[in-house]
Amino acid sequence: MIHNFIYDIPVRVYFGKGQIEGNLGKELKGFGKRVLLTYGGGSIKKSGLYDKVLKEIEEAGLELYELPGIEPNPRIDSVRKGAQMCKEHNIDVILAVGGGSTIDASKFMAAGACVEHDPWDFLDHSKRAPVTKALPIVDILTLSATGSEMDCGGVISNPVTNDKIGRMEFPMLPKVSFLDPTITYSVSPYQTACGAADILSHIFEVYFNMDQDMYMLDCFMEGLIKTIIKYAPIAIKEPENYEARANMMWASSWAINGFINGGKRQAWSCHPMEHELSAYYDITHGLGLAILTPRWMKYCLSEKTVSKYVQFATNVFGLDATMPSFQVAENAIALMEHFFFKTLGLKSTLSEIEIDSSNFATMAKKAVLGGTLKGFVPLKQEDVEKIYTMCL
Ligand code: NZQ
Ligand code: ZN
Repeated sequence: MIHNFIYDIPVRVYFGKGQIEGNLGKELKGFGKRVLLTYGGGSIKKSGLYDKVLKEIEEAGLELYELPGIEPNPRIDSVRKGAQMCKEHNIDVILAVGGGSTIDASKFMAAGACVEHDPWDFLDHSKRAPVTKALPIVDILTLSATGSEMDCGGVISNPVTNDKIGRMEFPMLPKVSFLDPTITYSVSPYQTACGAADILSHIFEVYFNMDQDMYMLDCFMEGLIKTIIKYAPIAIKEPENYEARANMMWASSWAINGFINGGKRQAWSCHPMEHELSAYYDITHGLGLAILTPRWMKYCLSEKTVSKYVQFATNVFGLDATMPSFQVAENAIALMEHFFFKTLGLKSTLSEIEIDSSNFATMAKKAVLGGTLKGFVPLKQEDVEKIYTMCL
């Protein structure tokens, strides 16, 4: 069945080399005078991007405020600090320069600046305060992974409660995103690999779905998957390969900007399971997804679902569909395992990253929010616990 949908992705994207110069200042100025620049642990200073940004801000005659130090798996305390700064300095626009963590945190700062309550109330399941307004966000993406540059979502950690919670709200959608692939030349092989796993998972969460009728979007998703499988290994071997970095960057945005969802009913599975791993153990999101994904694929394989795996196997990997269907499906899963753990070189088990089963029951309960994950195959707490156990 093809469900009705609304297509509306109003993010202005400047893609390519040298797009920041002359355009960043002009875009920021369009939103006002006072800019809050947010960034992470310092990669933008090492790469020289910080100086370039400052020059643009200065030339445009803007007033600059800075919030550095946003953590990977960004913490609610950083969001609180940013929202407070926005109020204190009457900020007009937030400029987020970084990966998903910096952009996500900035989204909730932007929303937090418009309310009197604690920004955690936006995320806390028992409160879910409405997000009706946010300051405008402009970003410069430095890592191809989350798609935060073109979606309205953000995921924030609260170490006090061991929670990592996401939310998507239209007012937090960036107004302008600068995507210059050369900025990602300095991303490490490990973060490149994790980014690739994240992009693939965003596509799998939609592609592996029992609403099969949107053929056009399935073909598009297969193209995105093939793009990552082709270019992530090149980007790891040759970090300054423009074609590889450019393909990864644009694929990361399109994997989650909402376009591929059109007409498909969907609920995600690996992401809620992974967010618990990050919440409890502060691991890199893409690594957790790489470990979970092949096990989730194995767990969901059945008479009812096998045809989707065969479609994936034949259209993505060119496997022979005349073989017995379960064999084709298992071969495709084995190829994904090989890609994550051999080609990308990511660790393949939770034990290798020192995670044992002690929190599985609590994490599984939180992942399903006490109910069922209504994804490709509905998963209850006991199913999620079994999948975690398969990852040990
Ligand atoms: O902090 P700095 O010094 O900048 O270093 C970062 C950080 O250590 C480094 N890095 C980023 N760009 C670089 C670079 N190093 C060298 N050169 C560059 N150009 O990479 C490290 C990781 O950065 P981070 O922003 O944490 O990575 P990512 O973009 O993967 O973001 C992960 C966060 O996004 C959330 C994840 O859960 C996680 O919290 N997600 C956000 C989503 C969304 N907004 O829609 C969806 C995703 O599914 C995901 O959940
Ligand atoms: Zn993700």
